[in-house]
Amino acid sequence: MSKQLILALSKGRILDETLPLLADAGIVPAEDLGKSRKLLFDTNLDDVKLVVIRATDVPTYVQLGAADLGVAGKDVLLEHGAEGLYEPLDLEIAKCKLMTAGIDGAVAARARRRVATKFVNVARRYYAEQGIQAEVIKLYGAMELAPLMNLADEIVDIVDTGNTLRANGMSPRELIAPISTRLVVNKAAMTMKHERLKPLIARLSQAVEQRR
Ligand code: ADP
Ligand code: PRP
Ligand code: MG
Repeated sequence: MSKQLILALSKGRILDETLPLLADAGIVPAEDLGKSRKLLFDTNLDDVKLVVIRATDVPTYVQLGAADLGVAGKDVLLEHGAEGLYEPLDLEIAKCKLMTAGIDGAVAARARRRVATKFVNVARRYYAEQGIQAEVIKLYGAMELAPLMNLADEIVDIVDTGNTLRANGMSPRELIAPISTRLVVNKAAMTMKHERLKPLIARLSQAVEQRR
């Protein structure tokens, strides 16, 4: 294993909050990530490189060791599974909630509930734990539309302000899990590159604490 560290960042809304945190920890991309079509970036540190990828791909890169560490939402980690990954640090950014939600005033009366979500594994696990029979329907976005179109009785999705639910005549029902962004580390790298990873994780941890 090379001594170089590859850090996988989630693009999208997490990235905007990740970059200031990395800067506080002393890691600065060599060029403006937003202005480039590149996917692999040098940083101010000789031995640290960044890749910027889809949030849902971060656990895969880190688990398989293509990246040594990564930044990913807890929702994505719950859905992907934790095999081969350590989760040493809560970065305390992009906080939101994974919830069930449905149309205002409607009661989820069906014996077999139809649930639309992109978090199919989380949803199956949750409804099984609740002893509720659920038919889980995989969608890739705009979950809030599904009950309105009678595609589903309920959704499992991210809720932050609740504006998206309200705007579509829906309300939150049950909390499945509080969500924030986590640092994940490849288990083999944690051993093989411990000398280099330890101070990096410590600096990120300090950066998180400074913000409290
Ligand atoms: P995607 O295109 O996969 O939805 P996003 O950039 O919207 O990607 O979201 C990435 C991560 O940001 C999610 O995995 C979640 O952890 C967090 N997140 C998503 N929506 C919100 C929100 N409304 N408020 C705060 N954090 C959110
Ligand atoms: C996320 C999530 C909800 C919304 C919740 O969508 O999937 O739809 O934010 O936030 P709110 O409670 O503050 O309204 P996002 O804006 O990321 O759109 P997309 O993932 O469907 O592209
Ligand atoms: Mg989104």
